[in-house]
Amino acid sequence: MCGIVGYIGKRDAVKVLLNGLQRLEYRGYDSAGLSVIENGTLLTFKRKGKVAELVKLLEKKQINCSVGIAHTRWATHGEPNDINAHPHTDNSNTISIVHNGIIENYHSLKQMLLAKGFHFVSETDTEVLAVLIGYFYDKTQDLEEAIRAALSEVQGTFGVAILSAKEPDKIVAARRGSPMIVGIGEDEYIVASDAAAIIQYTRQVIYLDDNEMVTLNRESYSTKTIDNRLTNSIIHLVDFDLSKIEKGGYEHFMLKEIFEQPQTIRDACRGRLLVDDGNARLGGLLPVFDNLRNVDRFILTACGTSWHAALVGEYLIENLCGIPVEVEYASEFRYRNPIIRKNDIVIAISQSGETADTLAAVQEAKQKGATVLGIVNVVGSSIARATDAGVYIHAGPEIGVASTKAFTSQLVVLSLLSLLLGRMRNLSKLDGIQIARGISELPSKVEQILERADQIKAIAKEFSYSRNFLYLGRGYNFPVALEGALKMKEVTYIHAEGYPSAEMKHGPIALIDENMPVVFIAPKDEIYDKVISNIEEVRSRKGRVIVIATEKDERIKKYAEKVFYIPETLPMLTPILSVIPLQLLAYYIAVELGYNVDQPRNLAKSVTVE
Ligand code: M6R
Repeated sequence: MCGIVGYIGKRDAVKVLLNGLQRLEYRGYDSAGLSVIENGTLLTFKRKGKVAELVKLLEKKQINCSVGIAHTRWATHGEPNDINAHPHTDNSNTISIVHNGIIENYHSLKQMLLAKGFHFVSETDTEVLAVLIGYFYDKTQDLEEAIRAALSEVQGTFGVAILSAKEPDKIVAARRGSPMIVGIGEDEYIVASDAAAIIQYTRQVIYLDDNEMVTLNRESYSTKTIDNRLTNSIIHLVDFDLSKIEKGGYEHFMLKEIFEQPQTIRDACRGRLLVDDGNARLGGLLPVFDNLRNVDRFILTACGTSWHAALVGEYLIENLCGIPVEVEYASEFRYRNPIIRKNDIVIAISQSGETADTLAAVQEAKQKGATVLGIVNVVGSSIARATDAGVYIHAGPEIGVASTKAFTSQLVVLSLLSLLLGRMRNLSKLDGIQIARGISELPSKVEQILERADQIKAIAKEFSYSRNFLYLGRGYNFPVALEGALKMKEVTYIHAEGYPSAEMKHGPIALIDENMPVVFIAPKDEIYDKVISNIEEVRSRKGRVIVIATEKDERIKKYAEKVFYIPETLPMLTPILSVIPLQLLAYYIAVELGYNVDQPRNLAKSVTVE
């Protein structure tokens, strides 16, 4: 949610910043801007809309500079327009700041500054911080000291990068609750909210900790806590390259990421699947093995698509291991008084590892003394670092705002975890081998589905006129129904609902008529016949039935207008296959309707505000 990039070095800063913004645009795309220092003067340019608008604005300008900061925004305070776009400056146009997060006490700070005679041009909380830093800077004449003084007044979250025209060879960045990464190049530094803006120049990075501040000069850098104690920063190597954040010939990132799934599923299993032992090895959980042996209950917490993965996790863990599981929206978890007992384990699931609600749930659980694990994609992210132990899903960067490959990788990791936990308890080796084999066969089965993507494209063409969709599934595939509906809403703006198939008759059935497409996920499993009855209920009310069915299921044809087959697998693994046609359906309908699939309106890739 919002992207920050800052550069100091020998290159043309405008080029590096614009390039960085383009790579970060998936994090927010309602306005963009940058500030640079040219011959001691602070220049700021900003534009409503996509980064392309800013590029256009700067096209004809000759700017000679090698230091600057930039931002692509997802609005929280103030409508998306040129004035509210970042960077924001202080009253004397000396300081410029880009900011991710929310200054919760901005109103009282603003009143205090107004009373002192300062003025404001935007409606943003960020401008309040710029003016506050400017206020302290007038007194201290020292940028770091002014920033420290201002940040200690601030309540809320921030990732910030700051420039001063009076100290033109310096960028200061800091974080609290919002990621900041420093790329260490040769005689150059790039600071960004996301490694995607950095890896073109260097793969050596430092992840700032909460309440940490970095000062980048042309030839050196130093890190301290915001309250001015030296810190010891460790340099890490980013484990992906540029090809992972480029479209690689696909029209959209979403399509690329859907098609990457055979590989990302392999990557999630690599070194972890012990087929002959019927078991899984999850090295990241070694420090908490004893806790896993003694666990009485799991609480899985997450948001959005990751929450749907958690729901599948509930079925998996309860069925395979007999351990009770509760699934909590992270956004609710924190604001009630969750009961956490001694042997409970909380698992936070997050693609980005930066979702503010999930991070807050992690903190709440830790405060209550729980062991907290993470199932996270982004290495070094806040949730990965805040948890006691965890498992990376290794899906690689997910740029499409609608999550696809992260979901299937989360399900793979949850399947591996259930296998491991099951084998610690009552699951037999033979059953374990069957499950491990099933998991190992998933990549080729996903490939078989993707080879028939055109069938979904044809269905999408025919149904793109629809204004509503209903998704129904049972058991393991109930969360898939929710996920299918979420994908449809996010990228096509078509209203869609997911329900357990049998719940339909308790209300949503009233919606069924000849204009309502109903997507059933009906694999051949023990509740297949019940789902057929639910399909009949829809058909008799003239609903248009699309079914995701198991291959060779000829009987289903007489109940459905459209059938898409997925390969046979164990019931517990069907969600990993059945979700793929639903991802494709949403994608192709969005393309058919002419929407920007990778940057759907009002959304941003990771929601770092509560
Ligand atoms: O990064 P996270 O997994 O924590 O993100 C959680 C949700 O914000 C995310 O899944 C969101 O719902 C996606 N846009 C779904 O496609």
